[in-house]
Amino acid sequence: EAYTFSMALKVTENALLTNGTSVCDGRLEIFYNGSWGTVCDDSWDLPDANVVCRQLQCEAAVEAITPVSYGPGSGHIWLDDVHCQGNESSLSICTHRGWGQNDCRHKEDVGVNCTEFKILRLTDGCSGQLQVFYNNSWGSVCANNMDKATAAKFCQELGCGRLKSDVKEELSKLDLDPKWLDNVRCRGHEASVWQCPSSPWGKNTCTRTEVAAFNCTETLDLRLVGGTNNCSGRVEIKYGDTWGTVCDDDWDMKDVKVVCQQLRCGEPVSAELEFGGGRGVIWLNKVRCRGTEAHLWDCQHEPLGKNDCEHKEDAGVNCTEQTD
Ligand SMILES: *[C@@H]1O[C@H](CO)[C@@H](O)[C@H](O)[C@H]1NC(C)=O
Ligand SMILES: *[C@@H]1O[C@H](CO)[C@@H](O)[C@H](O)[C@H]1NC(C)=O
Ligand SMILES: *[C@@H]1O[C@H](CO)[C@@H](O)[C@H](O)[C@H]1NC(C)=O
Ligand SMILES: *[C@@H]1O[C@H](CO)[C@@H](O)[C@H](O)[C@H]1NC(C)=O
Ligand SMILES: *[C@@H]1O[C@H](CO)[C@@H](O)[C@H](O)[C@H]1NC(C)=O
Ligand SMILES: *[C@@H]1O[C@H](CO)[C@@H](O)[C@H](O)[C@H]1NC(C)=O
Ligand SMILES: *[C@@H]1O[C@H](CO)[C@@H](O)[C@H](O)[C@H]1NC(C)=O
Ligand SMILES: *[C@@H]1O[C@H](CO)[C@@H](O)[C@H](O)[C@H]1NC(C)=O
Repeated sequence: EAYTFSMALKVTENALLTNGTSVCDGRLEIFYNGSWGTVCDDSWDLPDANVVCRQLQCEAAVEAITPVSYGPGSGHIWLDDVHCQGNESSLSICTHRGWGQNDCRHKEDVGVNCTEFKILRLTDGCSGQLQVFYNNSWGSVCANNMDKATAAKFCQELGCGRLKSDVKEELSKLDLDPKWLDNVRCRGHEASVWQCPSSPWGKNTCTRTEVAAFNCTETLDLRLVGGTNNCSGRVEIKYGDTWGTVCDDDWDMKDVKVVCQQLRCGEPVSAELEFGGGRGVIWLNKVRCRGTEAHLWDCQHEPLGKNDCEHKEDAGVNCTEQTD
């Protein structure tokens, strides 16, 4: 399946969800022709909701129409009778009655509850400053109240082993830093860090100099092997002391984009299979990047080392730049 980069830029209208529990939950509001308006619930269903979720960089919709009301909106009712197939990149591409054409009232305004999309990363793979991608941008996690047990939980969540250092406060490496999380403190029994209590998203008392930084025991590294230059080749990942490869199931241009960016090799050119098979462990499979991740291992993937691939399926890339 081909991925074109212009597709992501073709969003002609702006959308957001409001009055819900997160940026991925709420009444749907659309910005069109200079003003915000809502969408009527006539024939609204799950594929429509999923298009909204994808457009907002959230995950799939939990339910098409939430049983709770998000309250009526105001102003225009921009869309009615929306019919999406589910694969559209934005709601405006779906068929509908026409902008502003409807016989609805605001009490019929649709709400969408998507699963929140968030990714964690440490700036240097398994060490450095802790950052999280939320509401379409990267922000820091602050160190206030973060104890070693909580940092250790982050190491574990990232597949980075155990905690190896104290939790330090550092000057943020991000220019525009929304500082998404603060006062994260796990109690110990949580299955994932996302269940640990914290201040609400974006609400904090921290400054640019109070970003959480720590080191975990594992190391992660990335290189390209077998190409004619350092910006093309078979993708290899080092986890701990062991270099291994990446299986090509679901391998596409968004994954290539992340590899090229991470290695400072410019833009993606192609997803390749022609660099020959590697040896040893196959670390990653079913890699599904969005294109915004800083590291290949930040993308969604099967558990490390778990797959039924053979080395003839090892994934490779070509990027525009060449390093020396
Ligand atoms: C867009 O806004 C202009 C000026 O407010 C108005 O004349 C026009 O009818 C609007 N178009 C639609 C589709 O609402
Ligand atoms: C938000 O939703 C609640 C119902 O959950 C409703 O009572 C309230 O009026 C809504 N507020 C706005 C600003 O839409
Ligand atoms: C969505 O899928 C249908 C059928 O599978 C296809 O015909 C259509 O071109 C796709 N639309 C987009 C925007 O990818
Ligand atoms: C949306 O779904 C989440 C997760 O299932 C839930 O916590 C939240 O309360 C839901 N929102 C509403 C308004 O019901
Ligand atoms: C999420 O991003 C949108 C668009 O940039 C912004 O309007 C909104 O305030 C942000 N939400 C939060 C919670 O920061
Ligand atoms: C992590 O390790 C590096 C290299 O050993 C060291 O320079 C840095 O201070 C450590 N960071 C923390 C937060 O301890
Ligand atoms: C990818 O790079 C290799 C050399 O490293 C080259 O042989 C191949 O033609 C390139 N493929 C594309 C599509 O540019
Ligand atoms: C790739 O990089 C290594 C070290 O950074 C360098 O020794 C080597 O010459 C480079 N090879 C090419 C083909 O650029």
